[in-house]
Amino acid sequence: MPLTSDAAVLDTENYRFLTDYVYRESGIVLDNDKRYLLEARLMPVVQDSQLASLSALCSALRGNATSPLRQKVVEAMTTHETLFFRDATPFDALKSEILAQLVEHQKTAHRLSLWSAAASSGQEAYSLAILLLEAGLATWNLNILGTDLSAAILEKARQGRYMQLEMNRGLPAVHLVKYFERDALDWRIKEHVRKMVRFEQFDLRKSMANKGPFDLIFCRNVLIYFDIPTKKKILAELRGALRPGGYLVLGSAESTLNLDETYKRIQVGRATFYQAPGN
Ligand SMILES: C[S@@+](CC[C@H](N)C(=O)[O-])C[C@H]1O[C@@H](n2cnc3c(N)ncnc32)[C@H](O)[C@@H]1O
Repeated sequence: MPLTSDAAVLDTENYRFLTDYVYRESGIVLDNDKRYLLEARLMPVVQDSQLASLSALCSALRGNATSPLRQKVVEAMTTHETLFFRDATPFDALKSEILAQLVEHQKTAHRLSLWSAAASSGQEAYSLAILLLEAGLATWNLNILGTDLSAAILEKARQGRYMQLEMNRGLPAVHLVKYFERDALDWRIKEHVRKMVRFEQFDLRKSMANKGPFDLIFCRNVLIYFDIPTKKKILAELRGALRPGGYLVLGSAESTLNLDETYKRIQVGRATFYQAPGN
């Protein structure tokens, strides 16, 4: 469908409708004036769905809440930026100190359960898998769960296939040759590592009563998108999904400060680990 000249224009009513819609569907808060962001992210959805304009997209969303458009809009509004061993500090702290504690705690069961709770395209979950293998735990029962709101990004995570550019970001060269194999111009994670991670769709705003108990949860670079009540609820639910004494890791711009004082803050080098009570 040809686009009209004002196809990308959002009037105040539709702007408010879309910010409410994105909040309701994902928890993501579009504060201040995020008009440019909505326009930039949603115009491809307009074109892909053969609609005439952003206001036509709003009408379609208003008319049919169960439309596949819903998923497309959520996918377009979520930021999937990630990389292998992102922010090296928590991985370094795991290697130097925390993993030894987890291993000591589970030395009888020989079992560790980890959760990458906003897994995006899987680099975080696979980084954890590689770290466990490098620590000599291949014979242990290792369960790594990767979850995300976005079904499309999880499909990429499941494939474990990455472009050269993605491999160049954060992954040490020794790990590249050891844990990946060439797949045409891309790289694919080796099968034994891929099989260590189970990916499933999960909205962090939902109850985590049937998740865990985990020894370690990475929930990084996602709380920043939420409002305070949502952050508090998620932090409380994550605490319930950790075993007593288990650890939560947040993104470098995130913390439990003024949100949940029940976690114990443990500093290891420059990394902060948030420990669930009841060791
Ligand atoms: C910036 S990425 C962070 C990826 C990884 N944790 C990292 O730090 O590299 C944020 C991810 O959070 C996901 N996300 C956004 N809202 C969510 C929600 N309500 N529930 C679960 N995941 C959500 C997005 O789809 C996106 O993949």
